[in-house]
Amino acid sequence: MNTYKIAVLAGDGIGPEVMEQALRVLDALEKKHGFATERTACYVGGAGIDNCGKALPDETLAACEAADAILFGSVGGPKWDTLPPDERPERGALLPLRKHFSLYANLRPGICLPELVEASPIKTSLIPHGFDILCVRELTGGMYFGEPKFYGERDGEIVGIDTLVYKKSEVERIARVAFEAARGRSGKLCSVDKANVLASSVMWREVMNTIAAEYPDVELTHMYVDNAAMQLVRNPGQFDVMVTENTFGDILTDEMAIVCGSLGMLPSASLCEGADSFFGLYEPSGGSAPDIAGKGIANPIAQILSMGMMLRYTCRETAAADDVDRAVRAVIAAGYRTGDLATGAKGEIRVGTAGMGDAIIATL
Ligand code: IPM
Ligand code: MN
Repeated sequence: MNTYKIAVLAGDGIGPEVMEQALRVLDALEKKHGFATERTACYVGGAGIDNCGKALPDETLAACEAADAILFGSVGGPKWDTLPPDERPERGALLPLRKHFSLYANLRPGICLPELVEASPIKTSLIPHGFDILCVRELTGGMYFGEPKFYGERDGEIVGIDTLVYKKSEVERIARVAFEAARGRSGKLCSVDKANVLASSVMWREVMNTIAAEYPDVELTHMYVDNAAMQLVRNPGQFDVMVTENTFGDILTDEMAIVCGSLGMLPSASLCEGADSFFGLYEPSGGSAPDIAGKGIANPIAQILSMGMMLRYTCRETAAADDVDRAVRAVIAAGYRTGDLATGAKGEIRVGTAGMGDAIIATL
């Protein structure tokens, strides 16, 4: 029987309670599909600061190194907001993990299911059947990590400097991930850049065009990022796979998330290509939601779908991964709604965190 080692980093806020449901669903999938996991629970984020003195404790990093995948909850909360930015849970844990494991490919699906179009802030008439976008965000380059990075005095004046730099090889590898993804979907890829202003974007666009020659079956288009931001609210259905650099991807995926209706539905995978599968960190897009933490009302679906992405990309347990996606669609179609999804429509079955987990397990 295949056994996968998973580092479980539930973190703060709603992290632990939604993680509990994802692990229950995982238990059910293991029984049904005949594989096993070895799980190591570790502190991260605010929990890391409180228990071990820093957001990414050494023992947590060691457990991640020993694992096949990292299943991540969420980090941060008001308790730690007064710390220096570098030490805060979000930056102190996530950015070092991304860099340490070279998690350069961030897959963020933005799916608005047809049953949930009412929950989207976009007019229903513009998205009558929902939509399904995959944003491929480059995650270890660009302004986040570029050098020099500096805040201080220079020539008698205070300056702040970030550097937007990409190597050709970095663009090539993210391009391949995006083209592969597009090949597995509708064959349409939109590359988002700012080539009318930025040198890094001119290079980005040239590399995308070069790699496109390897994928004659994929139709590549380019869009400036300001236009893309606008098109996402005007007509999100026009996109299938998007690929973009780190900072643009950060901004566009938050926008994509909200047009989907609820942050509670969106998973993500941050991947680094290995020999025959991906090492990855899998986390919901939504954050720690401290305002509703501990109440048992948070939507666990993003965490459950993130676990499903882990089964797909790291474990290669495709049948189990498909099962997760199918089960989530089934419970939504059956009317199960946590508070973030509820619109008061007839037939809705209001559930809390555990109730949603129960409903999903029942369909497996
Ligand atoms: C994200 C987050 C992170 C980012 C922060 C917490 C460092 O906003 O994953 O999108 O900017 O990448
Ligand atoms: Mn972000």
